[in-house]
Order: sequence, then structure tokens, then C-alpha cells
Amino acid sequence: MNSEPTEKNEKEVILSGIRATGALHLGNYLGAVQHFVEFQQTENACLYFVADWHSMTTDHDPERLRREPIEIVKDYIAAGLDPERSIIYAQSSVPELLELTWYLAILQMMPELTALPNYVEHLERIAEGKENTKNNNLGLFSYPILMAADILGPRATLVPVGKDQTIHVRLAGKLARRFNNEYGEYFPVPRTTERMIKVPGLDGEKMGKSQGDNAIDIHLSREEIRRRYLKDGITDKNRRLMSNPGDPYHGCKSVYPVHELVTAGETEAREIATLCQRAQIGCVACKNRLVDNGIWRILEPFQVRRASLKSEEIVEILHEGGKKARRIISETLLEVRERMGVRIY
Ligand code: TRP
Ligand code: SF4
Repeated sequence: MNSEPTEKNEKEVILSGIRATGALHLGNYLGAVQHFVEFQQTENACLYFVADWHSMTTDHDPERLRREPIEIVKDYIAAGLDPERSIIYAQSSVPELLELTWYLAILQMMPELTALPNYVEHLERIAEGKENTKNNNLGLFSYPILMAADILGPRATLVPVGKDQTIHVRLAGKLARRFNNEYGEYFPVPRTTERMIKVPGLDGEKMGKSQGDNAIDIHLSREEIRRRYLKDGITDKNRRLMSNPGDPYHGCKSVYPVHELVTAGETEAREIATLCQRAQIGCVACKNRLVDNGIWRILEPFQVRRASLKSEEIVEILHEGGKKARRIISETLLEVRERMGVRIY
């Protein structure tokens, strides 16, 4: 948490951006998507958008840019995001965001941006030849300012993001304060949330695309998921034989922690832990249970719903969501232009 708590009963404006590159994995699903769905069950206003302009800073393929936002929104809708409860849109549907980016850029000092760790790491990757030199572009450099516009545009109060993005939310907060100081109190200072769960991948490290091949793609079939766990899922290394008692809590790196997240009910997860500690279940059986009673129980209905979604429906959702988001963000711009002295003649 990075700021003062909002008062009780005050409605939160929850906002998060969705990166539209590559397929979602189980870590995204359990760690982020499920939270987005839960936030909708409350009185809060929820806005979720595809950050397609952000994708362009590192991906210059028009075909992918046309296709991926639709596919990713299909995933989110199938996972339970509801266009009746949330405003679901694409960043590029709201041109006002780019105008706000400009006004915020005026308030942003250069040295602060060049020092941001994400940017520094990016330059290092380019220097090491691990990334396209095209990616050293001005758009990428100003990425955090566009992100601040995403957040301040709808005057968001709570921005759930992964750890690597909290620094950007903090930067948006600084810009909000700077604006408020210069032009009078207007923007709420957004808080972030650290409720996002860390889901271990097959190698026991955090599940992620950059972690080698440790992720479970949520579009895999039940048998493919089983094969991946049986082949690569790291278990308690000290447990060589089934007759050795295992240590699910500290020794088992990739299977037990996921049981705790997906296996129906806490009691059942605890029962598995006990069986493991007493050497009454083998790792193969335990992995099978994880897939059949846990992961597949969640992914099967997800995959069925996803298969029934048509691209045209998604286009319609984004169109309607875009109009709603634009209405809200336009109001912010009227106020910002007025305060900064920008007149549209
Ligand atoms: N930069 C975020 C990411 O890489 C995506 C994003 C863009 C975002 N704009 C945002 C997240 C605004 C939260 C709020 O994941
Ligand atoms: Fe992990 Fe299950 Fe094997 Fe115990 S039995 S070490 S919890 S996979």
C-alpha cells in the first residue's frame, strides 16, 4: 500500500491494464484475473482495459495488434469479467488518454524517468542484444506517463498490479500530487494492492513467461497439463521413495502450493498435506489429484465458456466499453484543460 486509506463507504474506482501479448498462464489466472472478477462483486466501479498502445512500444506487427486484444478479452470474459459490471475497453478507443499523456509529460521531469528500473533494465537488454534495437523508442521511454494517464484519466483510486508495476502506480500518484499542487486539488492519489498471489511454476519459481518454460498455459488440455506436471513438476527433493515422508509446506515447490490455491476447500488441501507427511500418497497420485480435482475443475468451465465466445461479441463489448470509458475520461479532460489554461478554439 502506498498511501492513505480511503474513507469507509467511499466508492473505489478500481482500474487495471491488461497486457495483450501472449497467452495467459495459470499464474495470471489465479494471481490476477480472479481478483479482477472478485472486485466486481462489490459496489466499486471497475475499469479493465487492454493496453494496446503500450504493446506497440515493443511489438510492431499490425496483424498481432489487430488480433491479440480480442483474444485476451475473450480470456477475461470467459474467466468471469462481466461487461454489465465492469467497463471493458481498449486504450486506443480513448484518444483523450494521449492528450492527458501530454499534459502529464509537462509535469514529469526527465531524470526521474531515465532512472526508473524497468527502463534501465530494458536498455540493458537492448545493449546485450536480447531485444530489438527498435524498442529503444520515445514511446517506450514515455510508457509510464501513458500509464499514469490510464490511471488518472478515470480518476482511479485502487490499481491492482503485479510487483513489477507498483513503481509506475507510484509515479502516477506523484503526478497526481504535482497536478493538485499546481492547479488545485483534483486527482485522487491512487493506491495499489499487494493482494496478488504468487503462483509457483513447474520449477518452483514464480510462474511467468520470462522464467523459461515453467508456465501452464490456460488453454492446454487436461492431459497436456497432466503430462507437464508429471514430467517437470518439482516435488520434495528429499522424498526419493514413496515410503519417505514428505514435507509439503517447505519441501514441495511446485505441487503442494498450487493444491492450496485450487483444490476444493482448505480441508482437502490439508488432507493431502497430511497424507504426504505420513507417506500415504505418492507424488504421481498427488499430481493427478492436483490436475483432476483442482486445476481442471477451474479450467474446464473456463475453456467451455471461451469456446462459445465469438469475436464479433467481443468487438461489440469493446465498442460499448470504449464509449463509456470515453465519457468518463472526457470529463477529466474538460477539467484539466480548464485548469491548465488550454482552450479549444
Ligand atoms: N504496464 C502494465 C503491465 O505491463 C499494463 C498497464 C498499462 C497498466 N496501463 C496500466 C496497469 C494502468 C495498471 C494501470 O502489466
Ligand atoms: Fe508434493 Fe504431493 Fe509429493 Fe508431497 S506427495 S511432495 S505434496 S507432490
